[in-house]
Amino acid sequence: MSKIIFNNVHKSFNNRLSVLRGVSLTVAEGESHIILGQSGCGKSVLLKCLLGIIKITSGDILVDGISVKDSSRSDEYMRKFSILFQGNALFDSMTILENVEFGIRQIRRNDKGRIREVAEEKLLAVGLERRVFNLYPAEMSGGMQKRAALARAIAIEPEVLLFDEPTSGLDPITGGKICHLLKKTVNSLGVTSLTITHDIRVAKFLSDRASVLHDGVLVWTGHTGDMERCGNEFVEHFHRASHAISRRRVLE
Ligand SMILES: Nc1ncnc2c1ncn2[C@@H]1O[C@H](COP(=O)(O)OP(=O)(O)OP(=O)(O)O)[C@@H](O)[C@H]1O
Ligand SMILES: [Mg+2]
Repeated sequence: MSKIIFNNVHKSFNNRLSVLRGVSLTVAEGESHIILGQSGCGKSVLLKCLLGIIKITSGDILVDGISVKDSSRSDEYMRKFSILFQGNALFDSMTILENVEFGIRQIRRNDKGRIREVAEEKLLAVGLERRVFNLYPAEMSGGMQKRAALARAIAIEPEVLLFDEPTSGLDPITGGKICHLLKKTVNSLGVTSLTITHDIRVAKFLSDRASVLHDGVLVWTGHTGDMERCGNEFVEHFHRASHAISRRRVLE
Protein backbone atom coordinates (compact mmCIF):
# COMPACT_ATOMS: atom_id res chain seq x y z
CA MET A 1 0.00 0.00 0.00
CA SER A 2 1.34 3.45 -0.79
CA LYS A 3 2.06 5.74 2.15
CA ILE A 4 3.43 8.85 0.43
CA ILE A 5 2.71 10.02 -3.09
CA PHE A 6 4.51 12.95 -4.72
CA ASN A 7 2.50 13.80 -7.78
CA ASN A 8 4.24 16.09 -10.29
CA VAL A 9 5.46 18.46 -7.56
CA HIS A 10 6.79 21.83 -8.66
CA LYS A 11 8.37 24.45 -6.42
CA SER A 12 9.75 27.77 -7.49
CA PHE A 13 10.75 30.65 -5.24
CA ASN A 14 9.48 34.15 -6.07
CA ASN A 15 8.39 32.84 -9.48
CA ARG A 16 12.06 32.75 -10.39
CA LEU A 17 14.25 29.99 -9.09
CA SER A 18 12.64 26.71 -10.05
CA VAL A 19 13.95 24.11 -7.61
CA LEU A 20 11.51 21.24 -8.13
CA ARG A 21 10.25 20.76 -11.67
CA GLY A 22 7.90 17.80 -11.58
CA VAL A 23 8.85 15.35 -8.84
CA SER A 24 6.80 12.16 -8.82
CA LEU A 25 7.41 9.29 -6.42
CA THR A 26 5.46 6.69 -4.48
CA VAL A 27 6.80 5.41 -1.18
CA ALA A 28 5.14 2.25 0.10
CA GLU A 29 3.96 1.74 3.68
CA GLY A 30 6.91 0.45 5.72
CA GLU A 31 9.45 1.25 3.01
CA SER A 32 12.77 2.99 3.70
CA HIS A 33 13.36 5.22 0.72
CA ILE A 34 16.44 7.34 0.04
CA ILE A 35 16.65 10.48 -2.06
CA LEU A 36 20.16 11.21 -3.26
CA GLY A 37 21.42 14.36 -4.91
CA GLN A 38 24.11 16.98 -5.05
CA SER A 39 24.33 19.86 -2.59
CA GLY A 40 21.81 22.52 -3.43
CA CYS A 41 19.70 20.33 -5.73
CA GLY A 42 16.58 20.75 -3.60
CA LYS A 43 16.55 17.77 -1.23
CA SER A 44 15.76 19.79 1.89
CA VAL A 45 13.18 21.81 -0.05
CA LEU A 46 11.49 18.56 -1.05
CA LEU A 47 11.28 17.43 2.60
CA LYS A 48 9.97 20.81 3.67
CA CYS A 49 7.31 20.60 0.94
CA LEU A 50 6.33 17.16 2.24
CA LEU A 51 5.95 18.61 5.72
CA GLY A 52 3.98 21.56 4.42
CA ILE A 53 6.59 23.99 5.83
CA ILE A 54 7.11 25.22 2.26
CA LYS A 55 4.06 25.53 0.01
CA ILE A 56 4.32 23.71 -3.29
CA THR A 57 3.76 25.74 -6.45
CA SER A 58 1.81 23.00 -8.23
CA GLY A 59 1.18 19.27 -8.13
CA ASP A 60 0.24 17.46 -4.94
CA ILE A 61 1.64 15.42 -2.06
CA LEU A 62 -0.57 12.80 -0.43
CA VAL A 63 0.06 10.89 2.77
CA ASP A 64 -2.45 8.12 3.44
CA GLY A 65 -4.58 9.90 0.87
CA ILE A 66 -4.52 13.24 2.73
CA SER A 67 -3.27 16.16 0.65
CA VAL A 68 -0.64 18.51 2.04
CA LYS A 69 -2.90 21.26 0.68
CA ASP A 70 -5.96 20.19 2.69
CA SER A 71 -5.86 22.70 5.55
CA SER A 72 -8.90 21.14 7.23
CA ARG A 73 -6.83 18.00 7.93
CA SER A 74 -3.42 19.58 8.52
CA ASP A 75 -3.17 18.46 12.18
CA GLU A 76 -3.91 14.88 11.24
CA TYR A 77 -1.42 15.15 8.35
CA MET A 78 1.38 16.68 10.45
CA ARG A 79 1.00 14.19 13.29
CA LYS A 80 2.15 11.42 10.97
CA PHE A 81 5.70 12.82 10.74
CA SER A 82 8.83 13.29 12.73
CA ILE A 83 11.93 14.77 11.25
CA LEU A 84 15.56 14.58 12.20
CA PHE A 85 16.78 17.92 10.86
CA GLN A 86 20.15 18.41 9.20
CA GLY A 87 21.30 20.55 12.15
CA ASN A 88 19.34 18.58 14.82
CA ALA A 89 17.22 21.63 15.79
CA LEU A 90 17.50 20.98 19.52
CA PHE A 91 16.57 23.88 21.78
CA ASP A 92 19.82 25.28 23.22
CA SER A 93 18.18 26.56 26.38
CA MET A 94 16.78 23.16 27.36
CA THR A 95 18.56 20.04 28.57
CA ILE A 96 18.22 17.07 26.28
CA LEU A 97 15.67 15.51 28.64
CA GLU A 98 13.61 18.72 28.46
CA ASN A 99 13.99 18.74 24.69
CA VAL A 100 12.47 15.28 24.42
CA GLU A 101 9.77 16.10 26.99
CA PHE A 102 8.88 19.22 25.02
CA GLY A 103 8.32 17.12 21.91
CA ILE A 104 6.05 14.70 23.77
CA ARG A 105 4.09 17.50 25.42
CA GLN A 106 3.01 18.70 21.99
CA ILE A 107 0.99 15.53 21.51
CA ARG A 108 0.15 14.39 25.04
CA ARG A 109 -0.88 17.48 26.87
CA ASN A 110 -2.70 15.82 29.75
CA ASP A 111 -0.44 12.98 30.70
CA LYS A 112 2.22 14.73 32.83
CA GLY A 113 3.43 11.73 34.82
CA ARG A 114 4.18 9.63 31.78
CA ILE A 115 6.03 12.36 29.90
CA ARG A 116 9.26 12.07 31.90
CA GLU A 117 9.08 8.30 31.85
CA VAL A 118 8.63 8.16 28.07
CA ALA A 119 11.39 10.75 27.47
CA GLU A 120 13.86 8.77 29.59
CA GLU A 121 12.89 5.55 27.88
CA LYS A 122 13.53 7.06 24.42
CA LEU A 123 16.88 8.58 25.45
CA LEU A 124 18.00 5.19 26.75
CA ALA A 125 16.74 3.53 23.55
CA VAL A 126 19.06 5.69 21.40
CA GLY A 127 22.05 4.77 23.54
CA LEU A 128 22.34 7.79 25.82
CA GLU A 129 23.14 7.21 29.48
CA ARG A 130 21.26 8.77 32.38
CA ARG A 131 24.26 10.83 33.42
CA VAL A 132 23.92 12.97 30.25
CA PHE A 133 20.15 13.55 30.45
CA ASN A 134 20.59 16.93 32.15
CA LEU A 135 23.25 18.29 29.81
CA TYR A 136 22.50 21.10 27.39
CA PRO A 137 23.04 20.44 23.67
CA ALA A 138 26.16 22.66 23.63
CA GLU A 139 27.73 20.41 26.26
CA MET A 140 27.40 17.32 24.06
CA SER A 141 29.28 15.98 21.04
CA GLY A 142 27.65 16.04 17.58
CA GLY A 143 26.94 12.30 17.77
CA MET A 144 25.23 12.63 21.14
CA GLN A 145 23.16 15.56 19.88
CA LYS A 146 22.07 13.46 16.90
CA ARG A 147 21.00 10.68 19.27
CA ALA A 148 19.07 13.16 21.42
CA ALA A 149 17.35 14.58 18.34
CA LEU A 150 16.42 11.04 17.28
CA ALA A 151 14.98 10.35 20.75
CA ARG A 152 12.83 13.47 20.40
CA ALA A 153 11.75 12.38 16.91
CA ILE A 154 10.64 8.89 17.94
CA ALA A 155 9.08 10.00 21.22
CA ILE A 156 5.99 11.26 19.43
CA GLU A 157 5.44 7.87 17.81
CA PRO A 158 5.37 8.96 14.18
CA GLU A 159 4.20 6.86 11.25
CA VAL A 160 6.83 8.40 8.98
CA LEU A 161 10.40 9.27 10.00
CA LEU A 162 12.28 11.79 7.88
CA PHE A 163 16.06 12.05 8.02
CA ASP A 164 17.76 15.07 6.46
CA GLU A 165 21.47 14.35 5.95
CA PRO A 166 21.64 12.25 9.11
CA THR A 167 25.44 11.97 9.14
CA SER A 168 26.40 15.48 8.05
CA GLY A 169 28.94 17.10 10.33
CA LEU A 170 29.87 13.77 11.94
CA ASP A 171 33.18 11.94 11.58
CA PRO A 172 32.94 8.66 9.59
CA ILE A 173 33.00 6.39 12.67
CA THR A 174 30.30 8.33 14.54
CA GLY A 175 28.35 8.66 11.27
CA GLY A 176 28.51 4.88 10.88
CA LYS A 177 27.21 4.34 14.41
CA ILE A 178 24.33 6.76 13.77
CA CYS A 179 23.47 4.92 10.55
CA HIS A 180 23.28 1.63 12.45
CA LEU A 181 21.09 3.27 15.08
CA LEU A 182 18.73 4.77 12.46
CA LYS A 183 18.35 1.45 10.69
CA LYS A 184 17.73 -0.41 13.94
CA THR A 185 15.21 2.23 15.04
CA VAL A 186 13.27 2.20 11.77
CA ASN A 187 13.17 -1.60 11.74
CA SER A 188 12.07 -1.92 15.33
CA LEU A 189 9.33 0.69 14.98
CA GLY A 190 8.20 -0.63 11.59
CA VAL A 191 7.70 2.93 10.32
CA THR A 192 7.99 4.31 6.80
CA SER A 193 11.14 6.39 6.36
CA LEU A 194 12.49 8.86 3.87
CA THR A 195 16.13 9.85 4.05
CA ILE A 196 17.79 12.52 2.01
CA THR A 197 21.52 12.48 1.62
CA HIS A 198 24.34 13.06 -0.83
CA ASP A 199 26.26 10.13 0.62
CA ILE A 200 25.84 6.94 -1.40
CA ARG A 201 27.34 4.77 1.32
CA VAL A 202 24.75 6.04 3.78
CA ALA A 203 22.04 5.39 1.17
CA LYS A 204 23.19 1.84 0.49
CA PHE A 205 23.49 1.05 4.16
CA LEU A 206 20.04 2.33 5.08
CA SER A 207 18.00 0.94 2.21
CA ASP A 208 18.03 -0.79 -1.12
CA ARG A 209 15.53 1.57 -2.76
CA ALA A 210 16.59 5.04 -3.76
CA SER A 211 15.91 7.90 -6.14
CA VAL A 212 18.26 10.51 -7.52
CA LEU A 213 17.19 14.17 -7.66
CA HIS A 214 18.85 16.18 -10.40
CA ASP A 215 17.81 19.35 -12.19
CA GLY A 216 14.53 19.43 -10.27
CA VAL A 217 13.33 15.95 -11.16
CA LEU A 218 13.92 12.40 -10.00
CA VAL A 219 16.04 11.11 -12.84
CA TRP A 220 16.23 7.55 -11.53
CA THR A 221 14.49 5.31 -8.98
CA GLY A 222 15.58 1.78 -8.28
CA HIS A 223 17.74 -0.65 -6.32
CA THR A 224 20.86 1.02 -4.91
CA GLY A 225 22.89 -1.95 -6.14
CA ASP A 226 21.89 -1.15 -9.72
CA MET A 227 22.95 2.52 -9.67
CA GLU A 228 26.38 1.86 -11.03
CA ARG A 229 25.08 0.58 -14.35
CA CYS A 230 21.59 2.07 -14.54
CA GLY A 231 22.11 3.72 -17.92
CA ASN A 232 21.57 7.28 -16.69
CA GLU A 233 24.71 9.30 -17.31
CA PHE A 234 24.30 11.62 -14.30
CA VAL A 235 23.48 8.81 -11.85
CA GLU A 236 26.46 6.75 -12.96
CA HIS A 237 28.72 9.79 -12.71
CA PHE A 238 27.37 10.60 -9.22
CA HIS A 239 28.00 7.01 -8.15
CA ARG A 240 31.56 6.94 -9.53
CA ALA A 241 32.43 10.28 -7.92
CA SER A 242 31.12 9.16 -4.52
CA HIS A 243 33.11 5.98 -4.63
CA ALA A 244 36.29 7.80 -5.54
CA ILE A 245 35.89 9.74 -2.28
CA SER A 246 34.63 6.90 -0.13
CA ARG A 247 37.63 4.69 -0.87
CA ARG A 248 39.37 6.86 1.67
CA ARG A 249 36.59 6.64 4.22
CA VAL A 250 35.35 4.10 6.71
CA LEU A 251 31.63 4.04 7.40
CA GLU A 252 31.29 1.11 9.77
N1 LIG B 1 13.20 29.74 1.32
C1 LIG B 1 13.92 29.79 0.20
N2 LIG B 1 13.86 30.86 -0.62
C2 LIG B 1 14.56 30.89 -1.77
N3 LIG B 1 15.37 29.90 -2.19
C3 LIG B 1 15.46 28.82 -1.42
C4 LIG B 1 14.75 28.68 -0.17
N4 LIG B 1 15.05 27.48 0.37
C5 LIG B 1 15.90 26.89 -0.49
N5 LIG B 1 16.16 27.67 -1.55
C6 LIG B 1 17.03 27.34 -2.68
O1 LIG B 1 16.67 26.06 -3.16
C7 LIG B 1 17.83 25.36 -3.61
C8 LIG B 1 17.88 23.99 -2.97
O2 LIG B 1 18.15 24.12 -1.58
P1 LIG B 1 18.14 22.87 -0.59
O3 LIG B 1 18.41 23.39 0.77
O4 LIG B 1 16.91 22.07 -0.78
O5 LIG B 1 19.39 22.02 -1.13
P2 LIG B 1 19.89 20.60 -0.64
O6 LIG B 1 19.78 19.67 -1.79
O7 LIG B 1 19.20 20.21 0.62
O8 LIG B 1 21.44 20.89 -0.38
P3 LIG B 1 22.45 20.34 0.76
O9 LIG B 1 22.84 18.96 0.31
O10 LIG B 1 23.58 21.31 0.71
O11 LIG B 1 21.71 20.36 2.08
C9 LIG B 1 19.04 26.24 -3.29
O12 LIG B 1 19.40 26.92 -4.47
C10 LIG B 1 18.49 27.20 -2.26
O13 LIG B 1 19.15 28.44 -2.33
MG1 LIG C 1 19.79 20.01 2.62
